[in-house]
Amino acid sequence: MNWYRTAFGAHYRHLYAHRDGHEAAACVAAIAPWLPLRRGPVVDLGCGAGRHLSPLAAHGAWGLALDLSADLLADAARAAGALALPPVRADMRRLPLRDGSCAAVLSLFTSFGYFGDLDDHAPLLREISRVLVPGGRWCLDHLNAFAVRRELAAGDAVRERRLGSQLVREQRRLGPGGRRVLKDVRIRPLGGAERSAADGVPPQGLDYTESVALFAPAELDELCRGAGLVRVAACGGYDGRDFEAETAERWLLIYEREA
Ligand SMILES: C[S@@+](CC[C@H](N)C(=O)[O-])C[C@H]1O[C@@H](n2cnc3c(N)ncnc32)[C@H](O)[C@@H]1O
Repeated sequence: MNWYRTAFGAHYRHLYAHRDGHEAAACVAAIAPWLPLRRGPVVDLGCGAGRHLSPLAAHGAWGLALDLSADLLADAARAAGALALPPVRADMRRLPLRDGSCAAVLSLFTSFGYFGDLDDHAPLLREISRVLVPGGRWCLDHLNAFAVRRELAAGDAVRERRLGSQLVREQRRLGPGGRRVLKDVRIRPLGGAERSAADGVPPQGLDYTESVALFAPAELDELCRGAGLVRVAACGGYDGRDFEAETAERWLLIYEREA
């Protein structure tokens, strides 16, 4: 089974609880000046529990939240009223949307890079480009691959913590050639089955490895060009700082669909 089908189950909202609505609001404030949010439908691609939906609506956006995870979409449904349409369960590689029907597509908080190395994402980029109107924009909010490579070149990073009634061990490491960052996640219930179910974890626990593509912005630019997407802006963090690839807190990259 693909890791992203396991990793974004009901337990994800506890594991990533620190990725909250405040952070989402800051993210949307940083990218909004570069996006045609009021000009047509906006798609939050990989919306998770929908934490960006209210901030997007506050910036005048309307449209669609889409995700593969039924568990997270249940949360997104509560927030989706803000964006006008009910959230949709679909694979981002096959969007249930017409050609040229969207003003903006947003891949927020590392909702990209799951399907192999960067080159394997050409079909996804073509799909995003397909649904964008000419002049429409795609925003990628990705981790700083340079910083991740620097950090993990020195050795794996291991973190153990207690989360509710779970013991969580996460080990981050580089994949072959530094083309991916991998995170081995092991979750073991400390309480009974009932508490475990409340945390979204099966009684026997959970084991999986997250795997996200690492690349240089210039490599993504080139792949995007092949899909008719051209980078028009970039920002280095949710505080709206200038983009400096080596030191950025996040890579917030804005691409425009060519006419
Ligand atoms: C890192 S989470 C980010 C969620 C959300 N954007 C946020 O900031 O909280 C990535 C999201 O992408 C979704 N996802 C993973 N693979 C997907 C696919 N093939 N199609 C659609 N969504 C997918 C996951 O279910 C998850 O909700």
